[in-house]
Amino acid sequence: MEYKVPQLEPYVGKEELQNLEIVIRNKWLSEGLFAKEFLDRLQEFTKARYALLASNGTLALFLCLLGCGIKKGDEVIVSDFTFNASGSSIAFTGATPVFVDVAKTDLNMDPEKIEEKITKKTKAIMPVHIYGQSCDMDPIMRIAKKHNLLVIEDAAQGFGVFYKGTHTGTIGDVGMISFFADKTITTGEGAVILTNNEIIYERIKLLRNQGRPHSSTFIHPGIGMNFRMTDLQCAVGVAQIKKFGEIEKIKLNNYAMYKNLLKNVKQIKFLGENSYTNIVPFRANILAEKVEELVDYLEKNKIETRRFFYPLHKQPCFSDLKSKNENYHISEMAYTCGLSLPVFCSLAKEQIEYVCRTIIKFYEK
Ligand SMILES: Cc1ncc(COP(=O)(O)O)c(C=O)c1O
Repeated sequence: MEYKVPQLEPYVGKEELQNLEIVIRNKWLSEGLFAKEFLDRLQEFTKARYALLASNGTLALFLCLLGCGIKKGDEVIVSDFTFNASGSSIAFTGATPVFVDVAKTDLNMDPEKIEEKITKKTKAIMPVHIYGQSCDMDPIMRIAKKHNLLVIEDAAQGFGVFYKGTHTGTIGDVGMISFFADKTITTGEGAVILTNNEIIYERIKLLRNQGRPHSSTFIHPGIGMNFRMTDLQCAVGVAQIKKFGEIEKIKLNNYAMYKNLLKNVKQIKFLGENSYTNIVPFRANILAEKVEELVDYLEKNKIETRRFFYPLHKQPCFSDLKSKNENYHISEMAYTCGLSLPVFCSLAKEQIEYVCRTIIKFYEK
C-alpha cells in the first residue's frame, strides 16, 4: 500500500552520500577511517571510557553478556516490555531471562519489582531504556550493588538520552546502543558497546574480532567471532551523528505537535515524563481506547502505525519459562492499549495534522 503517512523514513541524504562516495573512492570497505571517526565521536558524545562497534544491537547485547561472563545456568533479570532481542540475547548465552514488569508512567523497568526476582542464580540485571527515556538507574544500581549483580544496559533506543546528565549505556557495567534503521541515528544495521570497565572491554574486544586485539594480525590469543561493522555503515554513521542535534530538535517538535493537537482527546494518553531523563522521542507513543479498531481506521486512511511490544513473558519462544504464570499487569496493558505514531524527521506538519484529524474523527464516530 502507498501510505499517505508511513511509519518511518530514515533521515539520510547528501551528507551520507558524500561520505559513502569517499569510502568507495578509498577502496577500503571493511572497518577503516570512518569506523575510527565514528567510534571516536561516539565515545566523545557518550563520555564512555571504552567503546567498541558491533554488527547490530542484538549481537552487541550478546557480546555484553559474554563479556560479563554470563553463561548456562545463570539468570538475568530483564524488563518484560521490550523488543524480543533483550530476552533472546540472554537465552543465546544459555542463561535464563527472568522478566520484570514495568512502571506505568514510562514503561521502563520498575525498580520496586526487581528484588523479588533475585535468586541464587541471578548474575545480572538488564534495564532497557524504552521509547527514548532513561530507566530510573539509581535504585537499579543500588539493588545491583546490594546483591553483587552486574548491570547490562539495553540502550538500543537510547542514543542522546541522559540519566541525570550521564548517557544511557554508560551507567551500569556495560551497555549498548543500536543503529538499526528506526533508531535515532542509523547505519542501517550496527551498534556500539560502551563500558567504563577495562576488563569487560578487553574481553569484548577479543570476542568481537576473532579473538585478536586488531585486524592486521593472524595470531589469535582467544576464541572470538566476527561482530564488526563495515566502513560503508560507519560513513553513514559519521554523517548521522553530526546531524543529531537537528534530528533531536525536529523529533521533539513533531512530538510536541501531536501532544498539542490531541490534547482534548480523552480516549488517548501520552506516556509520562520523568525529571531525571531527557526525551528523544522514538515514536509518538500513546495509550488509546479501542486500539485495534483505531489501527484499522488509520490503516484505511493510509496511515501506517505500529503496535507496542508484545510482553516477553507471553512470547511463544519463552513459553517454557515458569514466569509465564506470573503477573505483568503493566506490560500487558501497554501491549493492549499502546500505539506508536510516526515522528521521523522528514514528516511534514500537514502529515501530523492529518494523523491527528483522523484520530479525532475516529473517536467522534
Ligand atoms: C530495546 C531493543 N533492544 C534490542 C534491539 C536490537 O537491536 P538491533 O535491531 O540493532 O539488533 C532493539 C532494536 O530493534 C531494541 O529496540
